[in-house]
Amino acid sequence: MSQISDKVQYKSSRSVKPTCPQIRRGKEVYYITRKEIETKLDYTEKDLLKLVRKALTEHGKKRYEMPAKIGLHPIRDTLMHAMPAFVPKADACGIKWAYCFPQNHKYNLLQTSGLIILNDIQTGWPIAIMDAIWITAKRTPLVSACAVEKLARSGSEEVGILGCGVQGREHIPALGEVMPKLKKVKVLDKFPEVARKLVKDYQKKCECEIVIAKSVEELVRDSDVVVTATAILQKPKPSIKDNWVKEGALLLPIDFDSLWEWKTMKRCDKFLVDSLDEMNYFMSVGYLPHGLPELHAEIGEVVAGIKPGRQKESETIMDMNIGMGVEDVVIARDILDRAIKREVGRKLPL
Ligand SMILES: NC(=O)c1ccc[n+]([C@@H]2O[C@H](COP(=O)([O-])OP(=O)(O)OC[C@H]3O[C@@H](n4cnc5c(N)ncnc54)[C@H](O)[C@@H]3O)[C@@H](O)[C@H]2O)c1
Repeated sequence: MSQISDKVQYKSSRSVKPTCPQIRRGKEVYYITRKEIETKLDYTEKDLLKLVRKALTEHGKKRYEMPAKIGLHPIRDTLMHAMPAFVPKADACGIKWAYCFPQNHKYNLLQTSGLIILNDIQTGWPIAIMDAIWITAKRTPLVSACAVEKLARSGSEEVGILGCGVQGREHIPALGEVMPKLKKVKVLDKFPEVARKLVKDYQKKCECEIVIAKSVEELVRDSDVVVTATAILQKPKPSIKDNWVKEGALLLPIDFDSLWEWKTMKRCDKFLVDSLDEMNYFMSVGYLPHGLPELHAEIGEVVAGIKPGRQKESETIMDMNIGMGVEDVVIARDILDRAIKREVGRKLPL
């Protein structure tokens, strides 16, 4: 959005309440660790899906402020992004400072990490600092789940997931939440042991069958929904052939065009993104070398009911989501309230 909209800006600080009165503004911040978020707050997929839907709806209705990311890229194919966002309806304002370094497995560290700072809306002062790894791990697959609700064929039974890291794994419960007919999930990773671990960890928790595909082709053919969650590459290396894609499939890359042929992107009946502003930023620094096909909608507009989702069984649809700060701050704000209520976390002096 180029201009600050009246839909989001308060006229004066008197018309705003303090964001979280339990925290003494200007004196302290609330600090919550990743382990505390993961183990002590008891979030369910349903709770988080509701929050993600709310964030996407507000985005679709343009009731947010979220300038496109600015970033640093210290090594090829790495990124560090500042993701500020304000969602008035959720009383959520802050910034995620997020990082993706695909080679981090060499150092026994996760590829994707980050921190979130939340701010008081009345004064701007910081009120909370928390880990962003869990939030990113959960919210991204739930954005895919919102897309499945609106864009997948109603009888979808098979999902293919390429890349079995954090995101690939978390897509299983997230998509399971919105796919009551899910029968089979096919997975594949360039490291076979990573795929085997996913099957071992998730098969016991799921009613559907989870199998390792023999090839990318086998994974893609017959899949009603295909998720790619590998690495974002400045120069894509498409390994998914266009003629493998099933008619009527929903394609959900969260790693851009890294694995997809331009031909596939272009010939999809509908092509969506989460944020065109974000995509324009990425293109301006050299990602998405072919550009983007004609856009049907931003996913928030479909979730908010402003633009149509799937209209025909035969439509092949791609929704390419890069992740938005609005999702992060809405969840972080909810986490802050829940943590304070349950006395999880601590106040730190500023
Ligand atoms: N769109 C978003 O909102 C969003 C949010 C977080 C992460 N991401 C992106 O999602 C991707 C995955 O993130 P993650 O945190 O799960 O990383 P991760 O390192 O935990 O997992 C990535 C997995 O993909 C595998 N892989 C890499 N290239 C492959 C290939 N060509 N074929 C098969 N497997 C391959 C790796 O071995 C690894 O197991 C990254 O590109 C990251 O930037 C997107």
